[in-house]
Amino acid sequence: MLIGIDPYICVIKRRIIMNKAKRQAIIAGNWKMNKTPAETTALINEMKPLVADANCEVVLCVPFIDIAAAVEAAKGSNIKIGAENVHFKASGAYTGEISAEMLTAAGVEYVVIGHSERRQYFGETDQTVNLRTLAAVNAGLKAIVCVGETLEQRELGYTETLLKYQTKMALTNVSAEQLKNVVIAYEPVWAIGTGVTATADQADEGNGYVRAAIAEVYGAEVAETVTIQYGGSMNAGNADELVAKVNVDGGLIGGASLKAQDFSVIVKAASK
Ligand code: PGA
Repeated sequence: MLIGIDPYICVIKRRIIMNKAKRQAIIAGNWKMNKTPAETTALINEMKPLVADANCEVVLCVPFIDIAAAVEAAKGSNIKIGAENVHFKASGAYTGEISAEMLTAAGVEYVVIGHSERRQYFGETDQTVNLRTLAAVNAGLKAIVCVGETLEQRELGYTETLLKYQTKMALTNVSAEQLKNVVIAYEPVWAIGTGVTATADQADEGNGYVRAAIAEVYGAEVAETVTIQYGGSMNAGNADELVAKVNVDGGLIGGASLKAQDFSVIVKAASK
């Protein structure tokens, strides 16, 4: 009997590996409101040798004030630099905002958009997430668009509906070509900064809903190529199990991205 099962398992495993091979795993740090420019230089210098042999994309999204130091410190390494937000207008009277062109000119390659903290504290809506996403991809940035349900929404059974809605809203008017520069990060709000991680199955399921939403708009073939990260208390201890899931293509890492050793362990998990 067992002899009969083996080839079946091999086929399943091969299919999972093949699907994952269509997209790039990305481990992105989200430093949030942490680190001065001098601390940025020190932390990136510490990280560089630890992630040098990564077999996945390595990104650090840092506060605006740290971008120059981060780009300088990461020069010649495999670390890409990202920002944590971008405004949707090209220029003008928007005090305190930063445009996509300013970011690319500063050497930034990625930008986090629609993080739940921005949705919760800074009035971010599905509509502004969409406008920022369009501005980012039009300027040649890679957008890491965050979606995720609150605990209340999960308990009410709205997770799938909400994730699909947020994903489709964020991608309104984004062409299939532009989608190549979009990464989605599924971040259950109840798991962010709480130490409560989604189980690997919950992460896989959430990412699966996001992929299904993309398939509904762009078709299954395109959806298979989109990198979908998990985020929310991913750390050195749980990264292996999370990134092994078929729909989890890396992670968006908050707290653990502020520690070089921990971050490098997560990068190694995604490099397997
Ligand atoms: P956390 O944050 O890893 O500290 O939970 C993740 C995020 O907010 O992107």
